Amino acid sequence: MPPTPDSVARPHGGPFGYFDDARREYVITRPDIPLPWINYLGCRDYFGIISHTAGGYSFYRDARLRRLTRYRYNNAPFDVGGRYIYLRDDATGEHWSPSWQPTQNELEDFTCRHGLGYTTIASRYRGVEASTRYFVPLDEDLELWQLTLTNRRDVVAELSAFSALEFCLWDAQDDATNFQRNFSIGEVELEDGVIYHKTEYRERRNHFAYFACSEEIAGFDTQRDAFFGPYRGWDRPLAVERGQSFNSVAHGWAPFGSHHVRLRLAPGESRQVVFILGYCENPNEAKFDPPDSQTINKRKAKATIAAHVRPGAADAAFAKLEAYWLERLAVCRVETPDVHTNRMVNIWNPYQCTATFNISRSASFYESGIGRGLGFRDSNQDLLGFVHLEPARARARLLDLAATQLPSGGAYHQFQPLTKRGNNDIGGGFNDDPHWLTVGVAAYLKETGDWSILDERVPYDNRPGSEEPLERHLERAFAYTLERLGPHGLPLIGRADWNDCLNLNCFSDTPGQSFQTTANKDGNVAESVFIAALFVLAGTELAEIAMRRGKAKYTELYRAEAARMAGTIRRHGWDGSWFLRAYDDSGAKVGSHECAEGKIFIEPQGFCPLAGVGLADGTARSALDAVAEYLATEHGIVLQQPAYSKYYIQLGEISSYPPGYKENAGIFCHNNPWVMIAEARLGDGDRAFEYYRRINPSAREALGEKHRCEPYVYAQMIAGRDAPTFGEAKNSWLTGTAAWNYHAITQWILGIRPDYDGLVIAPVFPRAWPGFSVERAFRGATYHIEVVRHGPGNRVSLTVDGTPVPGNVVPPAPRGGARVEVEAVVQ
Ligand code: GLC
Ligand code: GLC
Repeated sequence: MPPTPDSVARPHGGPFGYFDDARREYVITRPDIPLPWINYLGCRDYFGIISHTAGGYSFYRDARLRRLTRYRYNNAPFDVGGRYIYLRDDATGEHWSPSWQPTQNELEDFTCRHGLGYTTIASRYRGVEASTRYFVPLDEDLELWQLTLTNRRDVVAELSAFSALEFCLWDAQDDATNFQRNFSIGEVELEDGVIYHKTEYRERRNHFAYFACSEEIAGFDTQRDAFFGPYRGWDRPLAVERGQSFNSVAHGWAPFGSHHVRLRLAPGESRQVVFILGYCENPNEAKFDPPDSQTINKRKAKATIAAHVRPGAADAAFAKLEAYWLERLAVCRVETPDVHTNRMVNIWNPYQCTATFNISRSASFYESGIGRGLGFRDSNQDLLGFVHLEPARARARLLDLAATQLPSGGAYHQFQPLTKRGNNDIGGGFNDDPHWLTVGVAAYLKETGDWSILDERVPYDNRPGSEEPLERHLERAFAYTLERLGPHGLPLIGRADWNDCLNLNCFSDTPGQSFQTTANKDGNVAESVFIAALFVLAGTELAEIAMRRGKAKYTELYRAEAARMAGTIRRHGWDGSWFLRAYDDSGAKVGSHECAEGKIFIEPQGFCPLAGVGLADGTARSALDAVAEYLATEHGIVLQQPAYSKYYIQLGEISSYPPGYKENAGIFCHNNPWVMIAEARLGDGDRAFEYYRRINPSAREALGEKHRCEPYVYAQMIAGRDAPTFGEAKNSWLTGTAAWNYHAITQWILGIRPDYDGLVIAPVFPRAWPGFSVERAFRGATYHIEVVRHGPGNRVSLTVDGTPVPGNVVPPAPRGGARVEVEAVVQ
């Protein structure tokens, strides 16, 4: 399909669409784009992923254990299966998908608008306009598909609409593998046109799904293969082709949901049809109605359905969702000379941070929802971009994470959100993990000033009876590293540090072995300079916290140990022009000019200065100059150079990737902001911002043909210069990149930084900018901050409510909605 005139005419659009900033939407103007561009539905418990052609699936809380609808990953085409609607002209028998997939008819005026918590897909076909808005109402365990049909013909249109989705038998992993059982267990019920999916409800499950329709139905199907017909798939369903459902009832095989609605539309007439897919739980003792039957007790579900099919109910629910997002976005709003900064900071970046908070790394089009629960290090870092949006949920998350910490101070690497228990399959031993809890707690304290969290009593490994105050958990996390120092006094790396693929104790020679859980070495030699820097950061935060808690002994201890580690980095972690990355199991250097490949790595160059290491003695400056010289490219900063050209058994997974991809010299966007922050700490706003701009997805919109992923969210990786596809993004959405970039731009480049004692104003921004303004809610007051440049430097003079204030900290105003005017002159 050629680009529509609409997209060509947009001055600032990309090849596949444009930003509609006023409506906070990205508008995709053609369906056949390089990759499915997705969005998330749901805020709390019920979630869905939806592509621009209505592909995707839904789940309740846990993408693996409570999968509602089925989705087949890595399909051909990439994205097929989802929340489909088919339309049929009953006069001619012609039928089509208004979301283009799966029938792929040539549509007019195709647009997909991805907005905050909703997606609207609209198109026109032979004079029939269809627009479907998909969203999850706030605080409901259901999704709505709000279909509006308009007849633009000058004659009556006799239409059929069919809904279609495939149910998953709950456990997505089992559903995709255990066919000998699963082909026999599928069960449904039908009542009043509502399809109830109740597989395994007869035994240990107390939950079911339902699929309802606001209109009288002309038929239904609940067995997939009846709806499709023999040897047919999503693109040619027989029920749609012949214009009549089969009224099939699933016994085993593949439970399915399809309603058939007939509509007669006068010229110019519009009609709305609402489909509701929901999840419902019953108390164990009230599962059946009547109690001695096998029939689902539907009381709760029926009430919910009735409330949502009422005319106007969907619009009202949507208005609430919109208000919710507007309120969140209002927490921090910026106005800078750069449109890409404004749109990312004001709309998309906090939106993506919310997705990473909710979903961690579990479910996207690149994460199957089966493999990864919530990561300990990931979820703590995600808070950096989320804590200001919903501090109460951030607090609860911190306590959940701390409850999976082990008595050793170490941590399970992941936990399953449904059970909140540590994941035994992957276990612990990633020696950076525990310190991220400190980073997360520090961010929470700085944002909220809620010191009571440190006194919350939290168990270890979820064991009742083991509860200790959170503060003690942080002490143990700190001690974990002190008890695990290597030959140079640097932290032992364990299974890996932040870089999951630097597996220095693994030595794997067996195909398929997990690089992260295989350990052939005793682990007493390989050390990480990255963990050393993270330890310095954690120690610095802990010292600040202890000081404010009046614990002088601890303040001293943390300071002394952080300083000692900084000294160790200086002695054993400095390579002459940049920071070393690690020592391997034989004590050989990793990330040194002495190495044949992998001479310089990004992580310690960014993280040492970020933690304050090397700022005074020139090493940080030298390291960052080396980044600019050896690692920076026009598409972002690559992870290391030169790329590993072959497999090194002593290094692990990092050398398993072809050069330029992922951790082997890809642009791993997560760590680029560390360098931005480091540059900001050294006062170079031009460089910091330039690095920000290079990976900003909005700024890359025009490069759509090369970048290929969504221009409204960060991707985990952009292929590095060693890759044949240099500049191509992959693994969009679920990445620590979201939180760190948000943190870097708002707190270090724009420099509006919540701190223990107030709001620090320390911008380090491009010299060419005359200034910018920020509206920031902070501890119950709103700060309107006007930054004005009077000279090329970074020195700040503050005026608060008209009065000059020494230093650069705005003390918190009394809570209760006060509005504080701040002027910061920068020279
Ligand atoms: C992935 C992981 C994250 C890790 C990073 C680098 O994004 O989720 O935990 O730090 O890769 O390996
Ligand atoms: C692989 C990936 C890495 C990710 C890890 C998660 O190692 O390369 O990015 O963090 O898997 O287990």
